[in-house]
Amino acid sequence: MSDAFYITTPIYYVNDVPHIGHAYTTVAADALARYNRLKGRNVFFLTGTDEHGEKVQKSAALQGLQPRELADRVVTRFQGLTPALEITNDDFIRTSEPRHYEAVTKLFEISLANGDIYLGAYEGWYCTPCESYWTELQLLDGGLCPDCRRPAEKRSEPSYFFRLSKYQQPLLDFYKANPKFIRPDARRNEIVSFVEGGLNDLSVSRTSLSWGIPVPGDPAHVIYVWYDALTNYLTALGYPDANPGRVDTFWPADIHLVGKDIVKFHCVFWPAFLMSAGIAPPRSVFAHGWWTVEGQKMSKSLGNVVDPYEMVRTFGADAFRYFLLREVPFGKDGDFSRNSMIHRINADLSNAFGNLLNRTLGLLGKNFGGVVQQPVPGDPLDAALAARAASVVDAVDAHMNELEFSRALESVWELVDAANKYIDTTEPWKLAKDPAATARLGTVLYNALEAARICVLLTSPVIPSAAQKMWAALGCDGFVASATLSASGGWGGLKSGVTLEKSAIAFPRIEEEKA
Ligand code: MSP
Repeated sequence: MSDAFYITTPIYYVNDVPHIGHAYTTVAADALARYNRLKGRNVFFLTGTDEHGEKVQKSAALQGLQPRELADRVVTRFQGLTPALEITNDDFIRTSEPRHYEAVTKLFEISLANGDIYLGAYEGWYCTPCESYWTELQLLDGGLCPDCRRPAEKRSEPSYFFRLSKYQQPLLDFYKANPKFIRPDARRNEIVSFVEGGLNDLSVSRTSLSWGIPVPGDPAHVIYVWYDALTNYLTALGYPDANPGRVDTFWPADIHLVGKDIVKFHCVFWPAFLMSAGIAPPRSVFAHGWWTVEGQKMSKSLGNVVDPYEMVRTFGADAFRYFLLREVPFGKDGDFSRNSMIHRINADLSNAFGNLLNRTLGLLGKNFGGVVQQPVPGDPLDAALAARAASVVDAVDAHMNELEFSRALESVWELVDAANKYIDTTEPWKLAKDPAATARLGTVLYNALEAARICVLLTSPVIPSAAQKMWAALGCDGFVASATLSASGGWGGLKSGVTLEKSAIAFPRIEEEKA
């Protein structure tokens, strides 16, 4: 396994208002970035904003602003997600930046020079909100856009085309040689049949708008927003030449995380653009599912858009992050409801996990003045708990490698439950009454806290602040975010001799009325 790990979110439309969907991709990517740092890997994690195109141009005009001014004003909504959701992105790219113009221009020039991009004329049905052309056949009855069901308009314009047809077979060969390029499998099958169905050349320039990156040598055209947007993943590494070494270290990207709606762009167009330019396609694209809210599609008109900032104010970033990744198997669609969120937080975090730590710290305070005792080995129950911890570390790793966040968290909770059960079975409150059992009591409390420490380490990519609080409460040094599994993931890492507080409130219970 290479040491470098490059993960990206899609770049978000700058003029949108952040909602649960944006938060979801970002939180999942962050958890994966953090987990890979925990494994000691050299991680580069990118997010950012997609700023060109007709929607921004129109909306700026309506407000009497230049598109760039509008973008500068609204980009803070997305940049603010980083502190609010405790995201650890290494860079935030904006497609309106000069570095991005350079990268897109360069990539486009290579394909122009080798004939993969050529000038032609485009005729078709255009949907402005979706920024997509459709063929007559694709339109719904009444000339409606098949994606958003709004009327499409007939357009004809000179346009540069990308020779996508030439890449049909190379793409199919690439999918075959890289069975994990598109995950989950359902998405892979869709893409393979789409490409098998034949590919038309793709229009990659527009003359109908000005807010975009000019076609090199023909500034009456601006480059198609998707060509522009996808290239962000290379720009951030310093492509074409600004940051020597970074592209070599991090490209091909390990994972582009995307929603299921934008798989075609990432799995068909993007690898073809790259192949044409002689650049390796990314290693993988993972498409997650879609959130509905209380059983309904989320929409401004229904007024049910889940605002991530409000979630964080009400429940805290840890709880929101935990819910998003625990509730729904990654790749499947899910439904958000405040009740199921409150239930999850209280049951898993406050009760099961919080309780493990607090009941043990309480007993340690009462019986040993909070001083962690040196454990005495030999009891099979203790060995079984240690073995369980080791198998959970392995299970979490296997699940995280497959982006099975919910299953990874389920595995951690097996250890939480095993540790709570260990306490119930060893009955430390009874040992406390027997003066001859002091050493055993110290050992039992050590083991329960040690299991909690490993759970803290394993959950730290998902609930970073709570994990840090618990890490400190367990007397561990420094930041859990700087810990590694190789140094801290083995049994016995808890220090004895340190004095701990009697409790640590990492997960306040959520009262239903408050929420
Ligand atoms: N700008 C493009 C991406 C370009 S990447 C080179 C874009 N932006 S977006 O802001 O509309 O969407 C960003 C992400 O949010 C997508 O991955 C999309 O799937 C995701 N979601 C939008 N609504 C969603 C839900 N209701 N549920 C889950 N994710 C959804 O597309």
